[in-house]
Amino acid sequence: MQLPYNKSATLLKLILYTDQDFMYRFDPMAIHDGPKSGEGSVTSSRGADGAARLSTTADYHRFTPVDLMSEFTICESFSGPGSPYGIILEKPSSYGAMVGDFLVRMGLLKDRATVCEVGGGYGSLMHGLLGSHENRIERVYMIDLSLSLLKRQRDRLSPWKSRITSIRGDIHELLGAVAGVDLFIVNEVMGDLDTLTGIDPSHMPPEAEELIRAYDLDIPAVPFNLNIGAIRLVEALCRTGIPALLTEHSSDPVIPDDMAYLARDLDLDAYPREIKLFRHSEYTIRFSHLVKVARAHGRTARTGALLDLIPVRKGKNLETIFRLRACDTEDHEIIYELLDHIREYRWLVIS
Ligand SMILES: C[S@@+](CC[C@H](N)C(=O)[O-])C[C@H]1O[C@@H](n2cnc3c(N)ncnc32)[C@H](O)[C@@H]1O
Repeated sequence: MQLPYNKSATLLKLILYTDQDFMYRFDPMAIHDGPKSGEGSVTSSRGADGAARLSTTADYHRFTPVDLMSEFTICESFSGPGSPYGIILEKPSSYGAMVGDFLVRMGLLKDRATVCEVGGGYGSLMHGLLGSHENRIERVYMIDLSLSLLKRQRDRLSPWKSRITSIRGDIHELLGAVAGVDLFIVNEVMGDLDTLTGIDPSHMPPEAEELIRAYDLDIPAVPFNLNIGAIRLVEALCRTGIPALLTEHSSDPVIPDDMAYLARDLDLDAYPREIKLFRHSEYTIRFSHLVKVARAHGRTARTGALLDLIPVRKGKNLETIFRLRACDTEDHEIIYELLDHIREYRWLVIS
């Protein structure tokens, strides 16, 4: 993997770990101080002047100890075979193992692969993936903006320490320099990337206008939010020519054919909306925009519901719980909550 020694990346702080504890630290430019207390992200909505705003979580991830349990990520919901949400599954499994099975089915996990996960959180996905498919994976790069999360990933992945390289940096600044990787995994990260919010369709900021024109992106007639960070990420992934799996909370969900009941009260063609979290906001992702971007770059884009890769129990039980909101036991409540959440998630494979 090449590293961006010569990049003019501002605010880039890169720390490289290998199988020794601490090997390399790289600060190409001065790093600004952390945010003042109470600041974590610039948040959203239209400014008082009616202009679009940029929502970014970069400072939040750089400077705040991140608590993923409060974010209810799907990955942490299935962090191990014994997770409470596992009652919804056909057989106990971890999210990472299910992702691995999906990658094999999609022909994306070659033998002796080098895999790069961006934004690996607590390391649970990679733990499950290596635990179930370790013979296929020779080398792993973990890229993350958060130093505390990188450390947590290293602890979680300690059984495979010699295969792991951890890199601290912003994916937007690093991706152009990555080579020698067979597969990227970007799980529930895109919603954290920059979003232009409150865009007036008749007075669009130049960056939004440029992207919308370049990729012929549909927009509504009313003020809207645009996932510029996710779009730029997909552009950069496409330029690498390396296959990628991306998942996220979507604004335009797709519902599996055999679970049509999950579409109840759901807008299947909406634009990104804000999700307020602890000291930062995320935005749902309009996957149809990303598909257009990938195809415009000549790449194959396949997409579907995240439930495609999570084998849930068959039978009428789940449907009954969801339709009737029949939550008369704790298990029912867990199932209802998870179905209601997961139905909006999608995957995108670029190859
Ligand atoms: C919502 S968490 C998801 C964690 C994990 N993938 C999961 O599904 O549980 C987002 C992750 O992306 C990282 N992240 C956010 N913005 C990033 C960026 N610009 N570059 C690299 N990592 C980033 C965060 O530090 C965190 O690890």
